[in-house]
Amino acid sequence: MMGICLMKRCCSRLLFLSLFCALMNQNEAISPDGEALMSFRSVVSSADGVVGKWRPEDPDPCNWKGVTCDAKTKRVIALSLTHHKLIGPLPPELGKLDQLRILMLHNNNLYGSIPTALGNCTSLEEIYLHNNFFTGPIPSEMGNLSRLKNLDISNNDLTGAIPVSLGQLEKLTSFNVSNNFLVGKIPSDGLLAQFSKDCFIGNFKLCGKKIDMECPDENSSTGSRSTGGGKTGKLLISASATVGGLLLVALMCFWGCFLYKKLGRDESKSLAIEVGGGASIVMFHGDLPYASKDIIKKLEALNEEHIIGCGGFGTVYKLDMEDGNVFALKRIVKLNGGFDRFFERELEILGSIKHRYLVNLRGYCNSPTSKLLLYDYLPGGSLDQALHERGEQLDWDSRVNIIIGAAKGVAYLHHDCSPRIIHRDIKSSNILLDGNLEARVSDFGLAKLLEDEESHITTIVAGTFGYLAPEYMQSGRATEKTDVYSFGVLILEVLSGKLPTDTSYIEKGYNVVGWLNFLISENRPREIVDRSCEGVETESLDALLSIATKCVSSSPDERPTMHRVVQLLESQVMSPCPSDFYDSSSD
Ligand SMILES: *[C@@H]1O[C@H](CO)[C@@H](O)[C@H](O)[C@H]1NC(C)=O
Ligand SMILES: *[C@@H]1O[C@H](CO)[C@@H](O)[C@H](O)[C@H]1NC(C)=O
Ligand SMILES: *[C@@H]1O[C@H](CO)[C@@H](O)[C@H](O)[C@H]1NC(C)=O
Ligand SMILES: *[C@@H]1O[C@H](CO)[C@@H](O)[C@H](O)[C@H]1NC(C)=O
Repeated sequence: MMGICLMKRCCSRLLFLSLFCALMNQNEAISPDGEALMSFRSVVSSADGVVGKWRPEDPDPCNWKGVTCDAKTKRVIALSLTHHKLIGPLPPELGKLDQLRILMLHNNNLYGSIPTALGNCTSLEEIYLHNNFFTGPIPSEMGNLSRLKNLDISNNDLTGAIPVSLGQLEKLTSFNVSNNFLVGKIPSDGLLAQFSKDCFIGNFKLCGKKIDMECPDENSSTGSRSTGGGKTGKLLISASATVGGLLLVALMCFWGCFLYKKLGRDESKSLAIEVGGGASIVMFHGDLPYASKDIIKKLEALNEEHIIGCGGFGTVYKLDMEDGNVFALKRIVKLNGGFDRFFERELEILGSIKHRYLVNLRGYCNSPTSKLLLYDYLPGGSLDQALHERGEQLDWDSRVNIIIGAAKGVAYLHHDCSPRIIHRDIKSSNILLDGNLEARVSDFGLAKLLEDEESHITTIVAGTFGYLAPEYMQSGRATEKTDVYSFGVLILEVLSGKLPTDTSYIEKGYNVVGWLNFLISENRPREIVDRSCEGVETESLDALLSIATKCVSSSPDERPTMHRVVQLLESQVMSPCPSDFYDSSSD
């Protein structure tokens, strides 16, 4: 059970997973196919919430949208979710669906590699994964799918050679690998020879008689020279004259990722950063003494060891500059290609904001392949880590101080920025801490930028589960008051030391807000507090509970503004000497 839940280390999913674990604990009887699909649900999110609506408490997944079962055996025979803006990697657990005949996941935003475990789904007859962002090689294990008739993986970012094993697929009648970054020789002995040129187009480094491209050296099929003959040769030469340099860089990078994966880390998406040609760094505040190319050189040298976090929007790396300055680089998962004008304008607004309790956005890299944002680095990590991951305990004064700092940061966004900014994603992993345990709000404004234009439901809903106001869950419309609700949940999280969807709440049938309301009805709200927290002051605790209760009111009108929250915190909760309490409380 925990195996499934811990499958993906990504912290943004933890909330979701803990909820999932809790639900799973209530009902042990879900079928193995259902479990495999729950793994899918735990890493893939969809703009319209279709996957989120799959109910883990169902004994089998046969009524879930997109899932088809055999009427008698109740085994899953088809998974069909196209045009759902699915975002995420495919989990290897899909390999357990050994009765699966049809896999239709085309026209989404799926990324990562195609899991080798797909080769275990030996009943597969049709696979449609085209128009996604899959990277890495085509698994040679797909050659084991002896019943496969249709395979379309065109329009992805796949690399490497076409596995010879695919030539063993005797039933294959339709096949398309066009528009990827495949290299090397098209296997000529085997059944792939029956397919026309149209099935291989748009892979500039692919060669073979099939596409009238002689392979440069039959002995090393991935040769690097692109001397060509034949008709498409001319086309290729003119194309490579213009985009040659760019492609070469991209290919080298892709090969890098490929080799990197071959070294045993084939599970997730590539972690190396591809900046690509034509990229430059746009800086805000104009006060950083680095040239664009120096920063880009630094970016390209980043790898797995530099990862310091993994939020709802992507991976965060630590970037050490030669002069001792440190930044945090946020690499946003590619959604719709690069930065557009709108995106850049919005970023400029965010970059113009500077406040003591906010994390500065220092700049961005307008790379065609990734969205890279440069922030100040905060040595204290996130509040989420401080509360739930690290062993050390936050004492009462630190907790109160963090709440007040975060409130001031959010209040600034709501009341002092023009245009005002709704954060939309207030949660403990977005509150960072500096070396003195002072709070800084991060990621403000990003949720809006990455929101789906049509559905207006952000793709981060899964990671933020538990913090969202009820009306936001229903309408998807964010307001200042939905932020206030999330802030109320954050206060409760800091007081209780537990995530809002902690299993202990779920087991009782509540989330943290439900639990608070229950305790209030029993007249013992103080019991919500983390028992291991030292130095709790009852007076300020009561005041905090009263503020939090107002913030998480189900009616938006009853919630105070953030301005008011700050006032209440300062007048009723704040410790007498906030500026020097570290010194006085450290003994
Ligand atoms: C796929 O099959 C191989 C070999 O039978 C096995 O080792 C592996 O665990 C399977 N993977 C999944 C996800 O079922
Ligand atoms: C699947 O294919 C791979 C490589 O193509 C092979 O090594 C493996 O033994 C095959 N697995 C099964 C279960 O046939
Ligand atoms: C393969 O896919 C590409 C891009 O999606 C398309 O242009 C091409 O016509 C397809 N080829 C065949 C044979 O369907
Ligand atoms: C390719 O390899 C064969 C032996 O495997 C060798 O006889 C031949 O000379 C090689 N061709 C080239 C161009 O290196």
